[in-house]
Amino acid sequence: MLILGLESSCDETAAALVTGDRQVLAHRLLGQEAAHAPFGGVVPEIAARAHVEALGPLVAAALTDAGVTLAQVDVIAATAGPGLIGGVMVGLVTGKALAHAAGKPLVAVNHLEGHALSPRLADPDLDFPYLLLLVSGGHCQLLLVQGVGRYRRLATTIDDAVGEAFDKTAKLLGLGFPGGPAVERAAALGDPRAVPLPRPLKGAAEPHFSFAGLKSAVARAVGKHSPEDLAASFQAAVVECLLDRTARALAAVPEAATLVVAGGVAANRAVRAALEALATKHGRRFVAPPLWLCTDNAAMIAWAGAERFAAGLTDPLDMPARPRWPL
Ligand code: KG4
Ligand code: ZN
Repeated sequence: MLILGLESSCDETAAALVTGDRQVLAHRLLGQEAAHAPFGGVVPEIAARAHVEALGPLVAAALTDAGVTLAQVDVIAATAGPGLIGGVMVGLVTGKALAHAAGKPLVAVNHLEGHALSPRLADPDLDFPYLLLLVSGGHCQLLLVQGVGRYRRLATTIDDAVGEAFDKTAKLLGLGFPGGPAVERAAALGDPRAVPLPRPLKGAAEPHFSFAGLKSAVARAVGKHSPEDLAASFQAAVVECLLDRTARALAAVPEAATLVVAGGVAANRAVRAALEALATKHGRRFVAPPLWLCTDNAAMIAWAGAERFAAGLTDPLDMPARPRWPL
């Protein structure tokens, strides 16, 4: 079983070839950081045009890397949402065209399901159900992953996503774009106790997350502390909030033997280390995908396509793009 995956929902254009037995034969990715950097964030129109230019050559390159032709591909999987509508349409229409031309089935993948199932691509022993902390630029959720297409949302953010908080903090500190990795690098040079920052919803009876107040507190402290101390204090506050909320959820789902983290913010080493210690404390196994599989990529889309296809799920060629699409 050979699956071609396409991803274009935000600012990464990507194509990958993955087998049903978890081999990543090729994964190509082109980031658009340079195009968006002058604006301090992703500009949807620029992103969509860049996807149009990049996707065809990336698919061709991935096929060459894997040493296969389109005719040898069994399934085409493309992100159909959620994300920026222009970009999603580029990837989905490309996927439909390839599926139609090659006479192969199409699987329209929810980008969040790509993140949610990506840990199973990296770890063959990861069985359902597991507790997933999904932390990305657009989302911050705790999900009980019960099976393919079976997700029970236990918590979400009531304001900003956690990656968004990293990106806004980076902007406030003048650390550039994209913000997450820049904040992590600066934090390594600072004192996490230097700046007193709030821990929104820590200890709250409700299960959710909140990061807007933390971002505002950083904004008020800018100029009074070094960017390194601010970055370190911000990251420490984020980690504490994530741990508190995840600990609460772990207690609520004793059936989940494993704690899993996925999404772009899962690439953060402080976040990974803290969650691993939490899992150990609660007697659960901990799984985090390799760093390249945390941030947006097409291998996770191909893998979600493989899992959905194996479950008998395919989609018609008139499947619409869905800019908003909760799991
Ligand atoms: O999953 P992803 O690549 O795209 C979305 O689906 O949103 O996540 C991107 C987010 C961005 O907000 C980025 O700043 C954040 O993940 N991120 C990080 C790190 N690497 C990426 N945040 C903290 N530390 C990192 N090392
Ligand atoms: Zn993502």
